[in-house]
Amino acid sequence: MRVLLFTGKGGVGKTTTAAATALRIAEQGQRVIVTSADPAHSLSDSMGIELGTEPIQIAPRCWAQQLDARERLEENWGEIRVWMMEVLDWAGVEGIEAEELSVIPGLDELFALTEVESLCESGLFDVVVVDCAPTAETIRLLSLPDILSWYMERLYPASRRVNRLVSPLLSRLTSLPVADDAVFTAGQRLYDSLDSVRRILADPKITSARLVMNPEAMVIAEARRTYTYLSLFGYQVDAVIVNRMLPELALDPWFEKWREEQQIHLQTIEQSFGALPVFRAEHVGGEVVGLEALASFADGLWGQADPSARLVAGRPLRVDRQGDDFVLSLELPFADSSDLDLTRAGGELFISIGPHRRNLTLPDSLSRREISSAALQDGCLAIKFVDAT
Ligand SMILES: Nc1ncnc2c1ncn2[C@@H]1O[C@H](COP(=O)(O)OP(=O)(O)O)[C@@H](O)[C@H]1O
Ligand SMILES: [Mg+2]
Repeated sequence: MRVLLFTGKGGVGKTTTAAATALRIAEQGQRVIVTSADPAHSLSDSMGIELGTEPIQIAPRCWAQQLDARERLEENWGEIRVWMMEVLDWAGVEGIEAEELSVIPGLDELFALTEVESLCESGLFDVVVVDCAPTAETIRLLSLPDILSWYMERLYPASRRVNRLVSPLLSRLTSLPVADDAVFTAGQRLYDSLDSVRRILADPKITSARLVMNPEAMVIAEARRTYTYLSLFGYQVDAVIVNRMLPELALDPWFEKWREEQQIHLQTIEQSFGALPVFRAEHVGGEVVGLEALASFADGLWGQADPSARLVAGRPLRVDRQGDDFVLSLELPFADSSDLDLTRAGGELFISIGPHRRNLTLPDSLSRREISSAALQDGCLAIKFVDAT
């Protein structure tokens, strides 16, 4: 099973690359589905085929699907929503307003992610290709399972216990609606599927993220930050795709100057993303629309390479023994130590870079030990744990 995530700034060519790659993988003999979590619905436009929320077959061994996150939300969130509406109603918030309030922002995107898990579980596909929303949303989205499970693990068992004891009492004392077991079951279901999504996405043997960019300074800068943040959450980036390279035969002097600039940016990309393989796709002149155009785009992009393969070996997060000590290493390419913040609370480690924070539960072997040093060097954070006794 493989999951491929295509991410990058808006308009760089994520949807095009994801669709083309899926066609290529199917052509090579594997069963593949390309699914779009981007509410802009551009996957349909790119393929020139009307897509729906259910997978439809668009080529031999190739399926496509345009997720309607809101619909998934309704399916899964039903019970909890009803309860929240009751609470809001009780609190004096009425009708339409309550309806709007009970849809927590970001929740629909969260369900889009759980869909990746059901596609993996279905056994119908060898490869799941995900056309992600633009970078900022994707990072937020991909950090959600991590953050939510952290809260769920701590708050959920307790609140359920309290609920069992208190709810009969509460409902006698006040008119406050108390969440019943159905609500908790729904919560548990969501939690379980998020936990599985997290396990799938953070397993580099299953999931690879690919950074799509254009040879332009601002796009590159954003891609570097994305690389850092994805690494922070343990997602393995295994390739860089530079799209819209001007072909060499564009001879007009005006194009020549543009091409020279692109070459300089390409060099920057190749140097700075050094450890990652860099794939290039040419600017095709017009738009890339329809299965034929996408297939030929895939040929130019991937050449002889197998896009379903894991293109870089490595472990974003690992623990190694050093004599009596342990070193926890986390790849954080391009991270700046002035942006980095590290806090520990018992068996928990909080790593922040800029606006993003990862809550890491330490394995037993580390949680009993003390941190003796932490250093960020060559894009890798190394934290040393020593025996306290
Ligand atoms: N290499 C290319 N040459 C020409 N047009 C391209 C190329 N890559 C993408 N496009 C076009 O650019 C537009 C945006 O591409 P898209 O894949 O939808 O970007 P994103 O998903 O990153 O927002 C589309 O109209 C697409 O057909
Ligand atoms: Mg898109």
